[in-house]
Amino acid sequence: MKKPQIHALVLSAGKGTRMKSELPKVLHKAAGRSLLNHVLSACADAGIESGIVVVGHGRDQVKAEMASQQFLAVREAWQEQQLGTGHALQVAANQFSKDEALFLILNGDGPLLRADTLRAMIDFHLQKKSDLTLGVMTLENPTGYGRVMGAKDRASRIVEEKEANAKEKKITRVNGGVYLVSRAYLEKFLPKLKPSKRTGELYLTDIISLGAKAGKKIFTYSFDPEELLGVNDQGQLAQVSKILQRRLIHAWMREGICFLDPERVYVEADVRIESDVVVEPNVALHAGTRIAKGAHLEAGVILKNTSIGEGAEIKAYSHLEDAVVGANASVGPFARLRPGADIGEDAKIGNFVELKKTKLGKGSKVSHLSYLGDATVGVDVNIGCGFITCNYDGVSKHETKVGDGAFVGSDVQAVAPLEIGANSYVASGSTITRSVPAGALAIARVKQENKEGYADRLRRKHAAAKQKDNK
Ligand code: UD1
Ligand code: MG
Repeated sequence: MKKPQIHALVLSAGKGTRMKSELPKVLHKAAGRSLLNHVLSACADAGIESGIVVVGHGRDQVKAEMASQQFLAVREAWQEQQLGTGHALQVAANQFSKDEALFLILNGDGPLLRADTLRAMIDFHLQKKSDLTLGVMTLENPTGYGRVMGAKDRASRIVEEKEANAKEKKITRVNGGVYLVSRAYLEKFLPKLKPSKRTGELYLTDIISLGAKAGKKIFTYSFDPEELLGVNDQGQLAQVSKILQRRLIHAWMREGICFLDPERVYVEADVRIESDVVVEPNVALHAGTRIAKGAHLEAGVILKNTSIGEGAEIKAYSHLEDAVVGANASVGPFARLRPGADIGEDAKIGNFVELKKTKLGKGSKVSHLSYLGDATVGVDVNIGCGFITCNYDGVSKHETKVGDGAFVGSDVQAVAPLEIGANSYVASGSTITRSVPAGALAIARVKQENKEGYADRLRRKHAAAKQKDNK
């Protein structure tokens, strides 16, 4: 049987007042991705290609997020005033096109739905030739949810918490807010919704009783309650974020990644890790990070949108952002790689070294206490302790080039723009203000003077001065 195309319909107009935040609720991030994107990504993984997002609060921001994601082709339905979930669907229905036959309705604030579960629900719906399939869950404490009436596997009516009587409130099978339903069904029953006498809202849930009365086949499909957890406040955001973390870390462990303490690692959704990578405690891997085979991340390392090459070692408490580290290179401990840092194969960055927009060639070393900005360093260069590129004159940034095989001694400042030539030698303690030709030795420091026997004289002089002060 050829599967029909299914379109997502994501309800995301609500304000999310309890988040106490300026940001529209569905744009809050869990594991580095917005709640809305989690939902769209699950739909995409379940084989859905397009859909509609009902947008209300924070319309422009939500639309920008829709435009920037690549999971699903989505268009907006603008619900200017939020008059209930039924009204949201009526607004979306204005957008339906004739070739869209089947819709999966979801809430934009439920990021834990799994694609596999959605697929299974879709298969179930098609197999049963259901008119509407309702995602349900059974909860010990069903407070707040719509209670689902009807025989096992079926739904005949949903009673909202606010409308339920004492007996109905005892029902533990509740509406999870996920529906698979045909356009024909929606177009037939949505216009028949009537505002609740209690709240004035139009309830989407009323399409169940309307359909059931008209003899429609309405099945229920049971979800693990964890998958239907919604986010309404910061506590729930933290809770879903934690669950997403756990899922991601366990998925990476199945791919052969070794986490020494999986409970104490932060991993965002858009991260890729290859096998045999070892991750020590308190590491944070942010979106866009790629880690190749066999790399080792020591404790406290933070990687943001950074690529780590095969077998590279990032030592404790290093912070890397928009950076690239080549194969078998070593970085840290306590290193900072800022955007545009590009460390070559087998290169070494030691402690208290900061790099910005700097390319370091294969096998080169910056082992201690240095700053390199707007620099290009060739291969097999040795940069001593305490080297500084003086790249900023208060107005503009200037470039420094260091040629292959150069040796730069300790405590050297290079006042950019300039070039330190290949195989040249820069003496320690130099302030270099002019380019150094290839193969040259540059010394730019005051010549040393030794005064024989002067140390004792100097000590006596200081002691005498101190005695005088104490009188
Ligand atoms: C809804 C269901 C309830 C179910 C619960 C599951 C109704 C009437 N009730 O209740 O049976 O148990 O979800 O989580 O549907 N929204 C709009 N426009 C609106 C109103 C809401 O887009 O005018 C969006 C919200 O942003 C949210 C979703 O629809 O993403 C659900 O709305 P919400 O107010 O959370 O409904 P519940 O009271 O939780
Ligand atoms: Mg809700």
